[in-house]
Amino acid sequence: MSDDELREVAERPTGEAPRDGIGEEDNPIPSWWWAGFVATILFAAFYLPYYTFSGWSQRTQYDAEVADARARAAATAPSTPTANPYRGDAAAIAEGRETFTTICAACHKPDGTGLVGPSLVDPYWKYGNSDAVLFETVTKGRPGGMPAWEPQLGATRIWKVLAYVETLPKSDRPGLGAPGYTPPAPPTGR
Ligand code: HEC
Repeated sequence: MSDDELREVAERPTGEAPRDGIGEEDNPIPSWWWAGFVATILFAAFYLPYYTFSGWSQRTQYDAEVADARARAAATAPSTPTANPYRGDAAAIAEGRETFTTICAACHKPDGTGLVGPSLVDPYWKYGNSDAVLFETVTKGRPGGMPAWEPQLGATRIWKVLAYVETLPKSDRPGLGAPGYTPPAPPTGR
């Protein structure tokens, strides 16, 4: 095509009949498209200032939801009391006594002075005798041969048996398992 011919095509008024099979139309944009275009601009006019000044963001919304979920989880999680809820409760202590004689006495002796397991009535504690530590000892067990009792007894019965252990008559002497322990002299004679 010569330059003249190209210019002629470029300058041809629209709506003219196609020449060489090439023509140009100027159809109006459909009104639904136009309405959508205007709507996005209007939306942006409100949304942009809103987003900028309201303080809302995905981050703050996320943080708020996480904090909310944490609070709900904390409210429903079974909390471990740090103090024995059954201390001094006669009915609970009677139940604890039952558990102690059937289970714990086999290793700690019915009076708690110790057999395979150490004495529970002397002033010496290997792991400590705060409520929380005792609860931990009995629920989770200890490596020196103390089984974990949580699966069999559950928290409530463990607190009750500990409430009972507390009522056992105490001995000032270091008992079985204590560092200064001397075994009682074997009985003499026959
Ligand atoms: C199979 C024998 C056995 C049974 C049954 C048993 N214990 Fe023990 N217990 C032990 C042994 C052994 C230890 C010492 C663990 C160690 O030194 O690591 C121990 C340690 C303990 C201690 C820690 C003492 C300290 O000085 O810190 C407590 C408290 C205790 N037992 C309570 C109980 C209670 C309550 C029960 C009943 C629910 C029970 N035990 C049942 C064997 C047993």
